[in-house]
Amino acid sequence: MRLTRRYSFSASHRLHAGVLSDAENESLFGKCNNPFGHGHNYVLEVSVTGEPDGFAGMVVPRGKLDDFVGRTALDRIDHADLNNDVKELREIVPTTENLSLLVHRWLNSAWDAEFGDDGARLDRVRIEETARNSCEVTG
Ligand code: NI
Repeated sequence: MRLTRRYSFSASHRLHAGVLSDAENESLFGKCNNPFGHGHNYVLEVSVTGEPDGFAGMVVPRGKLDDFVGRTALDRIDHADLNNDVKELREIVPTTENLSLLVHRWLNSAWDAEFGDDGARLDRVRIEETARNSCEVTG
């Protein structure tokens, strides 16, 4: 059984690879290479696998998951300049792919301390940047 919880956050970024020339960056990233950046209203989905517990009938308590995702991920990226405010993204391009990997890593590395006794496992992190563009990390 898999439960999915959906969150939203807003952030800005600029897609620019330091190893490429300005012309190569412009050609590769197009408008997303604009020097002053641009913003997105992102959607974050977190999926959890497990069995509903016997008394509340839930795979994971919603409030506990929301609090965990807020403190472990959303607080670090909501209303952030991803290129500069998030130290893990300073040296890499803040694409949907890299952002999804980072959020998965944050949640996964803190997961057992929070949910280890509940039997609930982190199954999937999905970030939607636009209606046309989303990325998911599983496992
Ligand atoms: Ni963008």
